[in-house]
Amino acid sequence: MIIHGDCIEELSKMDSESVDCIITSPPYWKGFAYEAYFNSYAQYIRWSKKWLAECKRVLKPTGTLWLNVINDSEVSTRAFELLNIATEELMYKLHDTVIWYRFNQQPCNSNRQLTNQVEYVFMLRHTSAGVELNKEAAYNQNPTIFKTKNVGNVWEIPFNQGDKVSKNDFGRKETKSQYGHSGFPTALVETCMLLSTKEDDVILDCFAGTGTVGLVAKRHKRNYIMIEKDQSYYNLITERLFPSTPEIEVDIVEADKAGCSKCSRKKRIKS
Ligand SMILES: C[S@@+](CC[C@H](N)C(=O)[O-])C[C@H]1O[C@@H](n2cnc3c(N)ncnc32)[C@H](O)[C@@H]1O
Repeated sequence: MIIHGDCIEELSKMDSESVDCIITSPPYWKGFAYEAYFNSYAQYIRWSKKWLAECKRVLKPTGTLWLNVINDSEVSTRAFELLNIATEELMYKLHDTVIWYRFNQQPCNSNRQLTNQVEYVFMLRHTSAGVELNKEAAYNQNPTIFKTKNVGNVWEIPFNQGDKVSKNDFGRKETKSQYGHSGFPTALVETCMLLSTKEDDVILDCFAGTGTVGLVAKRHKRNYIMIEKDQSYYNLITERLFPSTPEIEVDIVEADKAGCSKCSRKKRIKS
């Protein structure tokens, strides 16, 4: 199911304990057009608490929330502040912390800072009891991201690079994915999903963006609920999940896996 609407409003309509897994990446308060309605960082933090609380309500007692957040030079503690809200205020249990190593990140052109190649994926649950991660399925699907056969918590996955555009209202150039803002790479979503869910489970992304969670869920025979506020991203999700030319879907998934925007574009132009 793809829902065009505001996450808090739409989450509030959902039944409690109705989803098995949430894989999501919220707006980061970076000045993108789609988050211009925040007047301040304090307001962003208050809003974050509301949607994190709704996610906890709709998540089954055995469910998992994979929360992807980044720290950067604008807000160097954002990821930790959201984690603090989740664990200290909302009583989620932090079960694991994954480092997404984005080795191909746009280099930092200043000698003042290092290139930021790290994003966090926090694995949050109601309780840590009774967890059975399917490491074999995750490894077999994407063996190269782990570097060794030991399924660890550092995942080397390329960022889906696209054109560099000056879209950030704070004056910084941002690297966009081939579809717009930083879309999830397929391998990241697939690893979270295969570790913590099984066929027919219900997976939610309340900030669906480019719709990668739904695309991967469909591919692995899971059900999906995606909420997206922005009309153009909603349209893009519909196009990605229900393409008029079926080969486009396969092409997009493969292009995502390679972290390659150009092969996707070329094939789309041809078709
Ligand atoms: C960081 S992006 C998520 C990208 C996504 N993980 C992907 O794979 O493309 C955040 C998304 O949340 C959407 N968004 C922002 N505020 C929202 C809200 N209140 N309700 C629902 N979606 C919202 C934005 O339009 C944007 O597409």
